[in-house]
Amino acid sequence: MTFLSGIQKEGIDPILLDGGDWLFNLGNVKKNKFAARQLLQKAKLLVDAYNLFGYAAAAIAEHDLAFGIDTVQQLEAQAKFPFLCANLFDADGKQIFPGSTVIERHGKKIGVVAALIQLPDHFLKKVGTDLEITDPVEALTREVKALGETVDAIFVLGHLDHKDIERVADTMKGIDFILEPASFAGSEPTWINDGEEVTPRNGRVLLQISGQGSTIGRVDLYLRERGTEWKPVSDDPASPGNLYNASHTRLASHIGRHPAMDKLVTEFLTGTHYTGLTEEDVTFIPSKEYLGAETCAACHVEQTEFWRSTGHGRAYATLEKTGDQFRYDCVSCHVLAYGETFVDAHKVGAFKDVQCESCHGTNPKHPEDPAAHRWPQMTDKSCWSCHDPRVTRVPFDPQSAFPQVSCPPLKRD
Ligand code: HEC
Ligand code: HEC
Ligand code: HEC
Ligand code: HEC
Repeated sequence: MTFLSGIQKEGIDPILLDGGDWLFNLGNVKKNKFAARQLLQKAKLLVDAYNLFGYAAAAIAEHDLAFGIDTVQQLEAQAKFPFLCANLFDADGKQIFPGSTVIERHGKKIGVVAALIQLPDHFLKKVGTDLEITDPVEALTREVKALGETVDAIFVLGHLDHKDIERVADTMKGIDFILEPASFAGSEPTWINDGEEVTPRNGRVLLQISGQGSTIGRVDLYLRERGTEWKPVSDDPASPGNLYNASHTRLASHIGRHPAMDKLVTEFLTGTHYTGLTEEDVTFIPSKEYLGAETCAACHVEQTEFWRSTGHGRAYATLEKTGDQFRYDCVSCHVLAYGETFVDAHKVGAFKDVQCESCHGTNPKHPEDPAAHRWPQMTDKSCWSCHDPRVTRVPFDPQSAFPQVSCPPLKRD
């Protein structure tokens, strides 16, 4: 919001677009009802926030279907901007969302079309729907044709696999930019070169953006002649054709907070007591395997002191500082065995912080007879569940990390 107000002060009225997979993350959302309730709250927060941002359109993609189509339609009713998807149909063959929209800015008309990847049937069953997803390229072609000559440029929001992105880039007429959220970049390479987020191809441009909201992509258009090639401004500006300038900004904390957004986020963070939900709802039976650090501390004073001096011993306080301790997308890596020890974030009890058993594993009979119930040799296996660079965006190197967290050895005779 702060970043956007900055752009508006430059006299620019930006067109904000989202390529899809913005409401939910499929995962195992339905198993844990506390987390599921919060995901719904978070989706509502996102729609409210996008309304304030002044979004122009957002595509609907496969993760957005996690809670079924009715949920998406409720959120659509809350949104002041259209949800787009040209190739999603209900059981009666009716298209659910519009496939395109036209946005006017600075005297120009920009068409936006969107489609999603054709998902396998087992995936659609998983979200419990009888939806039909048709060929995305055919659907996009139909939408682009319908827009015809009425628009000055066309953006494709394509939550597609790389083959379809190639079909779009190579065969579709009349399009200018393809915006692809990077969801398939890891497992399934797209034709974007590694480390590059802007790729020109056949006179049109593919824009890729990711970063879980930590990065915003911006493209400035210098539209000189409809239907001609797009070239970066760094090319010869005297040559004919259209010019674009693409950039990415990391939304680092120095950009500053915005009071309107703070208000929304605070409401969300303080509204995490979900009424009507009990631990029985999630058929939760706490594991008896975990003893907790207090138990270990009785015999391992030196190791406990050392542990308290590391970040692991303060990991819960880290969340409390920003009021994030009741967030299900945070708590699991900042406590002991979330999901096995407790499920309601308001009942963390003795399981605060990354504890002894987060690393050493469980060994409930150990205190009775330590010599008979030894612990396995420590490996880096336990570290990766939390030090997952895909989530934390911090690289993890066990070799340099181990010495920093190795408790002092026991003094054995
Ligand atoms: C249950 C999740 C979890 C596990 C398991 C875990 N860590 Fe961490 N680790 C964290 C969190 C969270 C932080 C940040 C703590 C903070 O400052 O709030 C952290 C911080 C660190 C740091 C930063 C140094 C410091 O003292 O703050 C190092 C190094 C580290 N971990 C190494 C490891 C190693 C090595 C393992 C495996 C033997 C491991 N961690 C297992 C969650 C975990
Ligand atoms: C997948 C596990 C995981 C999740 C989920 C997670 N964290 Fe962490 N967090 C870590 C690890 C691991 C570190 C330590 C990273 C490092 O420095 O190596 C860390 C470090 C941090 C730090 C820096 C601590 C310091 O003082 O240096 C903050 C702040 C933090 N996390 C907050 C959060 C918030 C807020 C959320 C939820 C939005 C969250 N974390 C979700 C694993 C996680
Ligand atoms: C009643 C005292 C007692 C409690 C409680 C206790 N330990 Fe121990 N622990 C010992 C003793 C004594 C040894 C040394 C065993 C030996 O070498 O024969 C030991 C050894 C260890 C070792 C070294 C490896 C091994 O198996 O010898 C680790 C690691 C360890 N304990 C972790 C823990 C953790 C984690 C907890 C809490 C879940 C814990 N201990 C609770 C007394 C205790
Ligand atoms: C971040 C992971 C991590 C956490 C959390 C942790 N430890 Fe350790 N601990 C280690 C590592 C690594 C070593 C070094 C031993 C090794 O490499 O096998 C170690 C060593 C020990 C030893 C000495 C083993 C020996 O053979 O001399 C004991 C005892 C121990 N830890 C107990 C604890 C207790 C008690 C806690 C909680 C208060 C705790 N640890 C928390 C990772 C951890």
